[in-house]
Amino acid sequence: MRYLVTGGAGYVGSHLVAEIRDRGGEVVVVDNFVTGHRDAVLPGVRLVEGDVGDAATLQAALAFGPFEAVFHFAARSLVGESMRDPMLYFRENVGKGAILIDSCVRGGVRKFVFSSTAALFGVPGEGPIGETAPIAPVSVYGESKAMIERMLAWAGRVHGLRGACLRYFNAAGADAAGRLGEDHRPETHLIPLAIDAALGRRPPLEVFGTDFPTPDGTCIRDYIHVADLADAHLRVLTRLDAGSVAYNLGTGRGHSVLEVLRAVEAVGGRAVPHCLAGRRAGDPANLVASSARIAAETGWAPRRAALEAIVASAWAWRVAHPDGFAA
Ligand SMILES: NC(=O)c1ccc[n+]([C@@H]2O[C@H](COP(=O)([O-])OP(=O)(O)OC[C@H]3O[C@@H](n4cnc5c(N)ncnc54)[C@H](O)[C@@H]3O)[C@@H](O)[C@H]2O)c1
Repeated sequence: MRYLVTGGAGYVGSHLVAEIRDRGGEVVVVDNFVTGHRDAVLPGVRLVEGDVGDAATLQAALAFGPFEAVFHFAARSLVGESMRDPMLYFRENVGKGAILIDSCVRGGVRKFVFSSTAALFGVPGEGPIGETAPIAPVSVYGESKAMIERMLAWAGRVHGLRGACLRYFNAAGADAAGRLGEDHRPETHLIPLAIDAALGRRPPLEVFGTDFPTPDGTCIRDYIHVADLADAHLRVLTRLDAGSVAYNLGTGRGHSVLEVLRAVEAVGGRAVPHCLAGRRAGDPANLVASSARIAAETGWAPRRAALEAIVASAWAWRVAHPDGFAA
């Protein structure tokens, strides 16, 4: 089996590439390294260096096919940046997404798996969030992902492209074999930030908001191991034979910010220096996925759902790579 992975030098994409290779599959990665890392492209993976908005790059990559499926990770994904520069996100995510989908349709690709996000749901109501929750993003980033979901739906109706929109909640953790880990620059995700604070590699962590309607007053999020995400990507391929799908992907269990800090302290045996700060605009109190639909339709279940196991894998990678991937 051969697959095309855009953004395969990034955090989540590189873990899918590793999973495909471990299962004996072949991968072609398209990446322009705007946020990805050369060392995250594992040996034996064919790299087409270039931009997903460049039709010639895509033509060169598609020439290595035929591909069983295209996995589309390449995107800008900083909520704050998207609110400062909305058109960057519409150009990068939506405009280039259209060029990629068009190239795939013309190139005879039948299955397309898209990295979507919980940010689609904005500030949802109480309880686990299922696929029927209203799509009401409160950031340009979330809006850009919603627009790609709509484009994919039309590519399905008009061209028969089978699309899977996978709405990740909080991707976390690292490769069990120690080959890959999380290295966003700037880093905005809680677990790597807490680890770096514990290791003394950054100033004390700010905990944004302590007066949310949650048991300890801090925000609750659903952390899903990247290897479980990778497994979900491969499982949906069979389901796509029956038509396009959208799935919310999390563990179904939320953890507060303070619980995450305690898990990092337990795993690392060191305190996480932190200070309490006010809420940030637009942060919902509670974002937990219901992944009942993908479980029922593909048999997927998170196998590394325990928070301490997720944190332990992230800790191990960071301690072995305190500066992340080579610059
Ligand atoms: N990390 C999370 O918790 C999370 C949660 C929800 C959704 N997502 C989505 O998952 C995807 C991957 O996230 P990530 O955390 O791995 O991000 P990342 O920044 O680590 O990876 C993105 C990769 O895409 C590449 N890229 C970006 N724009 C490109 C372009 N125009 N052409 C070619 N390559 C390009 C980057 O160089 C990088 O290697 C993104 O689409 C993101 O929106 C991530």
